Amino acid sequence: MRVAFVGKGGSGKTTLSALFARQVARSGAPVLAVDGDINQHLSEALDPTAGTLPFAAPPLAAHLGEIKDLLRGTNPRITSREAMVKTTPPGRGSRLLRLLGDDELHTRHVQRVGGVPLMVTGEFDEGDLGVACYHSKLGAVELYLSHLVDGPGEYLVMDMTAGADAFASGLFARFDMTFLVAEPTRKGVSVYRQYRDHAREFGIPLAVVGNKVTGEDDLLFLKEQVGDDLLTHLVLSPWVRSAERGNPQGELEDTNRHALTILRETVDARGKDWPTLHRHAVDFHLRNAHSWANQATGQDLASQVDPEFTPGPPSLT
Ligand SMILES: Nc1ncnc2c1ncn2[C@@H]1O[C@H](COP(=O)(O)OP(=O)(O)OP(=O)(O)O)[C@@H](O)[C@H]1O
Ligand SMILES: [Mg+2]
Repeated sequence: MRVAFVGKGGSGKTTLSALFARQVARSGAPVLAVDGDINQHLSEALDPTAGTLPFAAPPLAAHLGEIKDLLRGTNPRITSREAMVKTTPPGRGSRLLRLLGDDELHTRHVQRVGGVPLMVTGEFDEGDLGVACYHSKLGAVELYLSHLVDGPGEYLVMDMTAGADAFASGLFARFDMTFLVAEPTRKGVSVYRQYRDHAREFGIPLAVVGNKVTGEDDLLFLKEQVGDDLLTHLVLSPWVRSAERGNPQGELEDTNRHALTILRETVDARGKDWPTLHRHAVDFHLRNAHSWANQATGQDLASQVDPEFTPGPPSLT
Protein backbone atom coordinates (compact mmCIF):
# COMPACT_ATOMS: atom_id res chain seq x y z
CA MET A 1 0.00 0.00 0.00
CA ARG A 2 1.31 3.44 -0.88
CA VAL A 3 0.80 6.31 1.50
CA ALA A 4 1.59 9.97 0.81
CA PHE A 5 1.91 12.71 3.41
CA VAL A 6 1.04 16.13 2.04
CA GLY A 7 0.12 19.51 3.52
CA LYS A 8 1.22 23.06 4.08
CA GLY A 9 4.90 23.88 4.57
CA GLY A 10 5.96 23.16 8.14
CA SER A 11 2.76 21.29 9.03
CA GLY A 12 4.68 18.12 9.92
CA LYS A 13 4.73 16.00 6.73
CA THR A 14 8.31 14.89 7.25
CA THR A 15 7.82 14.27 10.97
CA LEU A 16 4.69 12.19 10.43
CA SER A 17 6.17 10.29 7.49
CA ALA A 18 9.12 9.35 9.70
CA LEU A 19 7.02 8.48 12.75
CA PHE A 20 4.64 6.39 10.70
CA ALA A 21 7.41 4.58 8.82
CA ARG A 22 9.30 3.86 12.05
CA GLN A 23 6.23 2.52 13.79
CA VAL A 24 5.42 0.25 10.85
CA ALA A 25 9.05 -0.92 10.62
CA ARG A 26 9.14 -1.70 14.34
CA SER A 27 6.06 -3.88 13.97
CA GLY A 28 8.07 -6.01 11.57
CA ALA A 29 6.12 -5.12 8.41
CA PRO A 30 8.01 -4.29 5.20
CA VAL A 31 8.19 -0.53 4.71
CA LEU A 32 10.05 1.76 2.35
CA ALA A 33 10.25 5.48 3.08
CA VAL A 34 10.65 7.80 0.09
CA ASP A 35 11.76 11.40 0.36
CA GLY A 36 9.95 13.23 -2.41
CA ASP A 37 10.25 16.76 -1.08
CA ILE A 38 12.03 19.71 -2.68
CA ASN A 39 14.33 19.87 0.35
CA GLN A 40 15.22 16.47 1.64
CA HIS A 41 14.96 16.05 5.41
CA LEU A 42 13.40 12.63 5.84
CA SER A 43 16.71 10.96 6.59
CA GLU A 44 17.31 13.26 9.59
CA ALA A 45 13.79 12.69 10.83
CA LEU A 46 14.18 8.91 10.62
CA ASP A 47 17.34 8.97 12.65
CA PRO A 48 17.28 11.96 14.97
CA THR A 49 20.40 10.81 16.80
CA ALA A 50 22.33 10.57 13.51
CA GLY A 51 23.34 7.12 14.71
CA THR A 52 23.45 5.63 11.20
CA LEU A 53 25.92 6.49 8.49
CA PRO A 54 25.06 9.60 6.46
CA PHE A 55 22.72 8.80 3.58
CA ALA A 56 25.00 7.79 0.74
CA ALA A 57 22.76 5.94 -1.72
CA PRO A 58 22.29 7.94 -4.93
CA PRO A 59 19.01 9.79 -5.49
CA LEU A 60 16.63 8.22 -8.00
CA ALA A 61 16.91 11.27 -10.25
CA ALA A 62 20.64 10.65 -10.71
CA HIS A 63 19.96 7.37 -12.55
CA LEU A 64 16.87 8.22 -14.55
CA GLY A 65 18.23 6.68 -17.75
CA GLU A 66 19.14 3.35 -16.14
CA ILE A 67 15.82 3.27 -14.31
CA LYS A 68 13.98 3.71 -17.59
CA ASP A 69 15.95 0.91 -19.21
CA LEU A 70 15.26 -1.40 -16.31
CA LEU A 71 11.54 -0.68 -16.19
CA ARG A 72 10.80 -0.71 -19.89
CA GLY A 73 12.28 -4.20 -20.03
CA THR A 74 11.19 -5.78 -23.30
CA ASN A 75 8.01 -3.75 -23.70
CA PRO A 76 7.85 -3.29 -27.49
CA ARG A 77 5.72 -0.16 -27.16
CA ILE A 78 8.61 1.76 -25.60
CA THR A 79 11.23 2.03 -28.30
CA SER A 80 14.03 3.73 -26.33
CA ARG A 81 14.78 5.31 -22.96
CA GLU A 82 14.30 8.70 -24.62
CA ALA A 83 10.76 7.72 -25.59
CA MET A 84 9.94 6.79 -22.02
CA VAL A 85 8.56 9.82 -20.20
CA LYS A 86 7.61 10.05 -16.55
CA THR A 87 4.01 9.09 -17.22
CA THR A 88 4.71 6.18 -19.60
CA PRO A 89 2.60 3.38 -18.15
CA PRO A 90 3.79 -0.22 -17.87
CA GLY A 91 2.57 -2.76 -20.41
CA ARG A 92 3.34 -6.32 -21.43
CA GLY A 93 7.11 -6.80 -21.34
CA SER A 94 7.68 -4.06 -18.75
CA ARG A 95 9.65 -4.93 -15.66
CA LEU A 96 7.41 -4.72 -12.61
CA LEU A 97 9.08 -4.50 -9.20
CA ARG A 98 8.25 -5.89 -5.78
CA LEU A 99 8.63 -3.58 -2.82
CA LEU A 100 12.24 -3.86 -1.63
CA GLY A 101 12.95 -6.61 -4.16
CA ASP A 102 16.50 -7.63 -5.04
CA ASP A 103 16.46 -5.74 -8.35
CA GLU A 104 19.02 -3.14 -9.44
CA LEU A 105 16.84 -0.21 -8.45
CA HIS A 106 16.26 -1.18 -4.85
CA THR A 107 19.82 -2.45 -4.48
CA ARG A 108 21.31 0.81 -5.71
CA HIS A 109 18.97 3.37 -4.17
CA VAL A 110 17.84 2.06 -0.78
CA GLN A 111 19.73 2.60 2.45
CA ARG A 112 18.49 1.89 5.96
CA VAL A 113 18.23 4.90 8.21
CA GLY A 114 17.09 4.55 11.82
CA GLY A 115 15.90 1.02 11.05
CA VAL A 116 13.84 2.10 8.02
CA PRO A 117 14.82 1.51 4.37
CA LEU A 118 14.92 4.91 2.68
CA MET A 119 15.11 6.06 -0.93
CA VAL A 120 15.39 9.70 -2.03
CA THR A 121 14.32 11.45 -5.22
CA GLY A 122 17.03 14.13 -5.13
CA GLU A 123 16.47 17.79 -4.36
CA PHE A 124 14.53 19.67 -6.99
CA ASP A 125 13.13 23.12 -7.57
CA GLU A 126 9.76 24.59 -8.47
CA GLY A 127 10.52 24.13 -12.17
CA ASP A 128 10.55 20.36 -11.67
CA LEU A 129 6.93 20.33 -10.58
CA GLY A 130 5.17 21.35 -13.77
CA VAL A 131 3.73 18.78 -16.15
CA ALA A 132 5.78 20.24 -18.99
CA CYS A 133 9.22 19.58 -17.58
CA TYR A 134 10.98 16.82 -19.49
CA HIS A 135 13.80 16.36 -17.00
CA SER A 136 11.67 16.51 -13.91
CA LYS A 137 13.48 15.10 -10.88
CA LEU A 138 10.23 13.52 -9.87
CA GLY A 139 10.05 11.58 -13.12
CA ALA A 140 12.10 8.70 -11.72
CA VAL A 141 9.88 8.25 -8.69
CA GLU A 142 6.73 8.52 -10.80
CA LEU A 143 8.01 5.73 -13.01
CA TYR A 144 9.04 3.70 -9.99
CA LEU A 145 5.56 3.98 -8.53
CA SER A 146 3.84 3.04 -11.75
CA HIS A 147 6.02 -0.10 -12.02
CA LEU A 148 5.76 -1.09 -8.36
CA VAL A 149 3.54 -4.00 -7.42
CA ASP A 150 3.17 -3.64 -3.67
CA GLY A 151 0.97 -5.95 -1.70
CA PRO A 152 -1.30 -5.65 1.32
CA GLY A 153 0.76 -5.55 4.53
CA GLU A 154 3.61 -3.77 2.69
CA TYR A 155 3.99 -0.03 2.97
CA LEU A 156 5.54 2.68 0.90
CA VAL A 157 5.55 6.01 2.73
CA MET A 158 6.30 9.16 0.77
CA ASP A 159 7.06 12.58 2.19
CA MET A 160 5.76 14.98 -0.44
CA THR A 161 6.43 18.56 -1.35
CA ALA A 162 4.46 21.33 0.40
CA GLY A 163 1.16 22.76 -0.78
CA ALA A 164 -0.94 21.49 -3.63
CA ASP A 165 2.06 21.31 -5.99
CA ALA A 166 1.88 17.56 -6.33
CA PHE A 167 -1.22 18.09 -8.44
CA ALA A 168 0.95 19.64 -11.11
CA SER A 169 2.13 16.13 -11.87
CA GLY A 170 0.36 12.82 -11.97
CA LEU A 171 2.19 11.81 -8.84
CA PHE A 172 -0.72 12.41 -6.52
CA ALA A 173 -2.80 9.78 -8.27
CA ARG A 174 -0.32 7.01 -7.53
CA PHE A 175 -1.20 6.41 -3.87
CA ASP A 176 -3.73 4.23 -2.12
CA MET A 177 -4.10 6.78 0.64
CA THR A 178 -3.11 10.41 1.01
CA PHE A 179 -2.82 11.93 4.46
CA LEU A 180 -3.08 15.67 4.57
CA VAL A 181 -1.29 17.01 7.64
CA ALA A 182 -2.97 20.14 8.99
CA GLU A 183 -2.15 22.36 11.92
CA PRO A 184 -5.16 23.93 13.58
CA THR A 185 -4.70 27.25 11.80
CA ARG A 186 -6.53 29.00 9.01
CA LYS A 187 -3.62 28.51 6.59
CA GLY A 188 -3.29 24.90 7.62
CA VAL A 189 -6.82 24.14 6.54
CA SER A 190 -6.73 26.27 3.39
CA VAL A 191 -4.30 23.80 1.78
CA TYR A 192 -6.74 21.09 2.78
CA ARG A 193 -9.52 22.74 0.80
CA GLN A 194 -7.39 22.94 -2.33
CA TYR A 195 -6.38 19.32 -1.98
CA ARG A 196 -9.87 18.14 -1.23
CA ASP A 197 -11.22 19.72 -4.38
CA HIS A 198 -8.56 18.13 -6.59
CA ALA A 199 -8.90 14.83 -4.80
CA ARG A 200 -12.65 14.74 -5.34
CA GLU A 201 -12.25 15.58 -8.99
CA PHE A 202 -9.99 12.54 -9.49
CA GLY A 203 -11.52 10.24 -6.89
CA ILE A 204 -8.34 10.17 -4.78
CA PRO A 205 -8.73 8.89 -1.19
CA LEU A 206 -7.75 11.66 1.22
CA ALA A 207 -7.92 11.99 5.00
CA VAL A 208 -6.82 14.83 7.25
CA VAL A 209 -4.47 14.30 10.16
CA GLY A 210 -4.43 17.17 12.63
CA ASN A 211 -0.98 17.96 14.02
CA LYS A 212 0.55 19.93 16.89
CA VAL A 213 -2.81 20.03 18.60
CA THR A 214 -2.54 21.60 22.06
CA GLY A 215 -6.07 21.41 23.43
CA GLU A 216 -9.81 21.29 22.96
CA ASP A 217 -9.93 24.61 21.12
CA ASP A 218 -7.51 23.36 18.49
CA LEU A 219 -9.46 20.19 18.02
CA LEU A 220 -12.76 22.01 17.80
CA PHE A 221 -11.35 24.32 15.15
CA LEU A 222 -10.17 21.38 13.07
CA LYS A 223 -13.48 19.57 13.41
CA GLU A 224 -15.36 22.68 12.39
CA GLN A 225 -13.16 23.32 9.36
CA VAL A 226 -12.53 19.81 8.17
CA GLY A 227 -15.61 17.91 9.28
CA ASP A 228 -15.69 14.20 8.55
CA ASP A 229 -12.42 14.26 6.65
CA LEU A 230 -10.61 14.66 9.98
CA LEU A 231 -9.34 11.15 10.67
CA THR A 232 -7.28 11.66 13.80
CA HIS A 233 -4.71 14.02 15.25
CA LEU A 234 -1.32 14.14 16.89
CA VAL A 235 -0.69 16.44 19.79
CA LEU A 236 2.25 18.79 20.15
CA SER A 237 4.93 16.35 21.14
CA PRO A 238 7.73 16.86 23.64
CA TRP A 239 9.30 13.70 22.23
CA VAL A 240 9.40 15.17 18.71
CA ARG A 241 10.93 18.34 20.15
CA SER A 242 13.62 16.44 21.97
CA ALA A 243 14.27 14.28 18.89
CA GLU A 244 14.67 17.38 16.80
CA ARG A 245 17.39 18.53 19.16
CA GLY A 246 19.15 15.24 18.45
CA ASN A 247 18.44 13.82 21.89
CA PRO A 248 15.12 11.94 21.94
CA GLN A 249 13.86 11.51 25.50
CA GLY A 250 11.97 8.32 26.24
CA GLU A 251 9.31 7.20 23.77
CA LEU A 252 6.73 8.92 21.61
CA GLU A 253 3.61 9.73 23.67
CA ASP A 254 0.89 7.06 23.78
CA THR A 255 -1.72 9.37 22.27
CA ASN A 256 0.52 10.05 19.26
CA ARG A 257 1.34 6.38 18.87
CA HIS A 258 -2.36 5.68 18.91
CA ALA A 259 -2.94 8.24 16.16
CA LEU A 260 -0.30 6.48 14.03
CA THR A 261 -2.08 3.18 14.62
CA ILE A 262 -5.28 4.74 13.29
CA LEU A 263 -3.41 5.82 10.16
CA ARG A 264 -2.21 2.28 9.63
CA GLU A 265 -5.65 0.78 10.20
CA THR A 266 -7.08 3.24 7.70
CA VAL A 267 -4.52 2.19 5.10
CA ASP A 268 -5.11 -1.49 5.82
CA ALA A 269 -8.86 -1.07 5.48
CA ARG A 270 -8.45 0.09 1.90
CA GLY A 271 -8.11 -2.66 -0.62
CA LYS A 272 -5.68 -2.29 -3.46
CA ASP A 273 -7.47 -1.01 -6.54
CA TRP A 274 -5.11 -1.79 -9.43
CA PRO A 275 -7.55 -0.94 -12.23
CA THR A 276 -8.19 2.55 -10.82
CA LEU A 277 -4.50 3.26 -10.19
CA HIS A 278 -3.69 2.19 -13.72
CA ARG A 279 -6.56 4.11 -15.26
CA HIS A 280 -5.30 7.30 -13.60
CA ALA A 281 -1.80 6.58 -14.84
CA VAL A 282 -3.05 6.12 -18.40
CA ASP A 283 -5.21 9.26 -18.23
CA PHE A 284 -2.27 11.35 -17.06
CA HIS A 285 -0.03 9.86 -19.69
CA LEU A 286 -2.43 10.71 -22.49
CA ARG A 287 -2.80 14.21 -21.14
CA ASN A 288 0.96 14.57 -20.87
CA ALA A 289 1.52 13.17 -24.34
CA HIS A 290 -0.89 15.65 -25.79
CA SER A 291 0.36 18.69 -23.88
CA TRP A 292 4.13 18.31 -24.45
CA ALA A 293 5.57 14.84 -24.59
CA ASN A 294 4.59 13.96 -28.17
CA GLN A 295 6.31 17.07 -29.33
CA ALA A 296 9.35 16.56 -27.11
CA THR A 297 9.92 12.99 -28.29
CA GLY A 298 8.67 13.31 -31.86
CA GLN A 299 6.43 10.27 -31.33
CA ASP A 300 2.81 9.58 -30.68
CA LEU A 301 3.11 8.44 -27.08
CA ALA A 302 -0.53 7.39 -26.87
CA SER A 303 0.68 4.24 -28.61
CA GLN A 304 2.63 3.34 -25.46
CA VAL A 305 -0.60 2.43 -23.72
CA ASP A 306 -1.13 -1.32 -23.76
CA PRO A 307 -4.91 -1.80 -23.74
CA GLU A 308 -4.55 -5.44 -22.69
CA PHE A 309 -2.55 -4.68 -19.57
CA THR A 310 -3.26 -3.79 -15.93
CA PRO A 311 -0.44 -4.06 -13.39
CA GLY A 312 -0.95 -6.22 -10.33
CA PRO A 313 0.48 -9.32 -8.65
CA PRO A 314 0.10 -11.51 -11.78
CA SER A 315 2.34 -9.15 -13.77
CA LEU A 316 5.30 -9.94 -11.50
CA THR A 317 5.94 -13.32 -13.06
N1 LIG B 1 3.47 16.72 16.65
C1 LIG B 1 4.50 17.55 16.73
N2 LIG B 1 4.93 17.99 17.94
C2 LIG B 1 5.98 18.84 18.05
N3 LIG B 1 6.65 19.33 17.02
C3 LIG B 1 6.28 18.95 15.80
C4 LIG B 1 5.21 18.03 15.57
N4 LIG B 1 5.08 17.82 14.25
C5 LIG B 1 6.05 18.56 13.66
N5 LIG B 1 6.75 19.24 14.59
C6 LIG B 1 7.85 20.19 14.33
O1 LIG B 1 7.41 21.15 13.39
C7 LIG B 1 8.44 21.51 12.50
C8 LIG B 1 8.00 21.26 11.08
O2 LIG B 1 7.81 19.85 10.91
P1 LIG B 1 8.21 19.10 9.57
O3 LIG B 1 9.57 19.46 9.16
O4 LIG B 1 7.87 17.69 9.77
O5 LIG B 1 7.16 19.78 8.60
P2 LIG B 1 7.05 19.66 7.02
O6 LIG B 1 5.61 19.75 6.70
O7 LIG B 1 7.79 18.46 6.56
O8 LIG B 1 7.81 20.97 6.58
P3 LIG B 1 8.35 21.36 5.11
O9 LIG B 1 7.17 21.85 4.36
O10 LIG B 1 9.35 22.43 5.39
O11 LIG B 1 8.94 20.11 4.52
C9 LIG B 1 9.66 20.70 12.91
O12 LIG B 1 10.43 21.51 13.75
C10 LIG B 1 9.07 19.54 13.67
O13 LIG B 1 9.94 19.02 14.63
MG1 LIG C 1 9.34 18.31 5.19
